[in-house]
Amino acid sequence: MEDDFSVPHYKIKMVENTQLLPREKRIGAIKRCGNNVFSLKSEEVFIDLLSDSGTSAMSDSQWASMFHGDEAYSGSKSFFRLKEAVQEVMGFPLIIPAHQGRAAEKILDEVLVKKGDVIPGNWHFDTTRAHIEYQGAIGIDCVTKEALEPAIFHPFKGNIDLEKLESVIKKHGKEKIPYILLTITCNSMGGQPVSIQNIRDTKKLADQYGIPLFFDAARFAENAFFIKKREKEFENHSIGEIVAEMFSYVDACTMSAKKDAIVNIGGFIGLRNQELYDKLVPIAILLEGYPTYGGMSGRDMEAVATGLREVISEEYLAARIGQVAYLARKLDEAGIPIIKPPGGHAVFVDGKAFLPHIPQEQFPSQALCTQLYIESGIRAVEIGTCLAGRNPQTGKNVMPKLDLMRLTIPRRVYLREHMDYIVESLKRLYARREQIKGLKFSFEATGIRHFKSRFEVIE
Ligand code: F0G
Repeated sequence: MEDDFSVPHYKIKMVENTQLLPREKRIGAIKRCGNNVFSLKSEEVFIDLLSDSGTSAMSDSQWASMFHGDEAYSGSKSFFRLKEAVQEVMGFPLIIPAHQGRAAEKILDEVLVKKGDVIPGNWHFDTTRAHIEYQGAIGIDCVTKEALEPAIFHPFKGNIDLEKLESVIKKHGKEKIPYILLTITCNSMGGQPVSIQNIRDTKKLADQYGIPLFFDAARFAENAFFIKKREKEFENHSIGEIVAEMFSYVDACTMSAKKDAIVNIGGFIGLRNQELYDKLVPIAILLEGYPTYGGMSGRDMEAVATGLREVISEEYLAARIGQVAYLARKLDEAGIPIIKPPGGHAVFVDGKAFLPHIPQEQFPSQALCTQLYIESGIRAVEIGTCLAGRNPQTGKNVMPKLDLMRLTIPRRVYLREHMDYIVESLKRLYARREQIKGLKFSFEATGIRHFKSRFEVIE
């Protein structure tokens, strides 16, 4: 749907060499790692599609701005430059810096969320949900039903289902709901966008019940690009105008700057309400540091400030999202089952459809990740049955409807040749898919178990 032939409006000034280990070494490496790609050393990986978080390439302007980093313990000039950039791009007059997105979540939830509360949203990201649960509350996902149908086209699969949201509010009562959260784009649903209309309607409903509305804004610029391309009212608006409109409906946001500020580390809370700011600051000091650096160095704050202004470039976003769309189109043409349409930061391969002979309890997408590594040196990540974990009450494995392999594309890092290599590798794997076998745990880690668990092949 998005034009996938946008030429990047940048050129390469510095490169990092990579190596493709011979096949026997890749087999040895994955064996050593217990068939879990998280345990690979990055030097063993040829193309790294584990995450788009903190893995992007900064621009020369970002690197240059870092030299202006002011490392004063309090009142750093870099903090004020960051504050100005957030105000300019997102319209928030107040910010609390944090070292990354989950730290911003922690500060917010520590103050606002108590035992027995519920936080409805489109679909919370893992760390967001984990922080909510850590406070003794629960997160409730109200994403539109089309999001759960991999083969159906819908322009805004990240939208919240307003009827479902209202029924959650009615059931639990507004006193139990400290805020409603929209994740833009919706990572756990494949990086799918949320429309302005949906944001407006959610705001209206939130106001009706007097509940604040927040964004998890990690990929806000990618979301804005989809709005420009798919929501008629905004086709002639600049990305900057769309971003301003999006944020005008929310009271606050948490931000992982590791995504759409195109930096390697950083985050913040953006907000309007002085009273809330005053409540958050003591916790921010306790967990992150003085409120004019909060877990970031002065130079990090400079890079974030510059990145926020860069990311709302339409040329940049066209190339970024175009690259993801290109990869998706090529895979689709090769008959490889993917989630359609692709989102902004990744292509999701449908593991159950790729490997229909492997039952879901044998982790098809995890098996696919290990085989893709052996085939090609590419590291993808399972977003499926292993990640879903066990139900804390029953101890039973959660069986998510979708069992996926995420090919996550770092920003400004790989070329079209890399995308073609990924496609060719997956085609080869698809041709021999019947030989791929399921997996079982040889060690099941506790907590977020996909980081540390080990698997053996079921012969
Ligand atoms: N919210 C969203 C939507 C995210 O995708 C992430 C991280 C976070 C919050 C947490 O931010 O990592 O800076 O603490 N997502 C990464 C990923 C890890 O690979 O999707 P963080």
